[in-house]
Amino acid sequence: MSSDEPFGVYVHWPFCKAKCPYCDFNSHVRHGGIDEARFLSGYLSELRHFAVRAPGRTVTSIFFGGGTPSLMSPHTAEAILDAIAGNWAVADDAEITLEANPTSVEAENFAGYRVAGINRLSLGVQALDDQSLKALGRQHTADEALAALDLAKNAFERVSFDLIYAREGQLLDDWEQELTRALVYAADHLSLYQLTIEEGTPFAARHAAGSLRIPDGDAASEMYLLTQALCEKAGLPAYEVSNHARPGSESRHNLIYWRGHDYAGIGAGAHARITETGTKRAIATIKSPEDWLTQVEAQGHGLQSDDPLDPQDVAEEYLLMALRLAEGLDLARLEALSGRAMDTSRLDALEGDGLIARNGTRLMATQSGRLVLERLILELAA
Ligand SMILES: C[S@@+](CC[C@H](N)C(=O)[O-])C[C@H]1O[C@@H](n2cnc3c(N)ncnc32)[C@H](O)[C@@H]1O
Ligand code: SF4
Repeated sequence: MSSDEPFGVYVHWPFCKAKCPYCDFNSHVRHGGIDEARFLSGYLSELRHFAVRAPGRTVTSIFFGGGTPSLMSPHTAEAILDAIAGNWAVADDAEITLEANPTSVEAENFAGYRVAGINRLSLGVQALDDQSLKALGRQHTADEALAALDLAKNAFERVSFDLIYAREGQLLDDWEQELTRALVYAADHLSLYQLTIEEGTPFAARHAAGSLRIPDGDAASEMYLLTQALCEKAGLPAYEVSNHARPGSESRHNLIYWRGHDYAGIGAGAHARITETGTKRAIATIKSPEDWLTQVEAQGHGLQSDDPLDPQDVAEEYLLMALRLAEGLDLARLEALSGRAMDTSRLDALEGDGLIARNGTRLMATQSGRLVLERLILELAA
């Protein structure tokens, strides 16, 4: 693996104050507290494991995700950043992001995170009114979130925030007003997610029982198209299905995933892709935080699976990820990865249907194509 390609380190903090009823991320509530010092030594051990497997790389991006990594003390974040710098070279302009929940308690730590070396904050605002926040099971009010956003803009060079749309009872006009307000507050990046009903969550149970009514597919598509138009007009075009940025402020970390580069992933339930002796490997750690910690302490890593990907898997993963991007994928790279040429008559047909566009060797989903992305990917992968 060339050492000058982007390389990321993902750090998963698997704890939250409360579990939001829509969320199926690997996040757990521990009312009795956790032994943060013990977890920190687990993170440092697992970092050493990855450093041995990905030597000589230059880290271009670090991402503390969760769960709620803003429950981690600035001291713990700093110790992890120091250990990353001790194991690899870190680029001078590395993007170092922390995901934060916008409660006032967590906002008190922003200055400490900045001193620790975090230079980008991604804030989970989710909605701009208290009624919606309550319905989403959030632990903060809209005023608290906006105050946290102000603090973040003062403390960090780069700030993003997340909103969820197509929520219970939300109409197109409601979303237009909310997004218009959000664009006034926006710094350089916004993540705008359509509410997904995830299996096994309280929202899924209510949805199945008919007591949670969310906008149907057509209404959600209208909201998506409105989102594209308003963000584009405000100078934050979509560079990925749900992500918008001022040109040059795209999240470098997420681009590592979507462009198919390597990354290490530490902490319970993290994923990694590491190329060893020419073979890309899909690596995942144990999801239970306590089981992960027990194994790290015994074996120096908390890996649950570590499998080679065959060329077809690598090509499909690249197709799946890169088609989410406005820049699309490089057909020549896709063909080199899969070892087979794309069927040009199929590409012509999809282009004729207005679902894809081509520019030299690049292939991208059009706006209509992005609305049916799963179908498009299946057709292209066939
Ligand atoms: C896993 S959270 C971590 C950040 C932080 N804990 C928070 O909640 O703000 C990352 C983002 O995923 C999004 N998300 C989680 N579950 C979702 C769902 N079911 N539908 C849409 N977006 C979701 C939320 O916008 C959230 O900000
Ligand atoms: S949305 Fe964020 S705060 Fe809520 S449970 Fe998921 S990770 Fe935790």
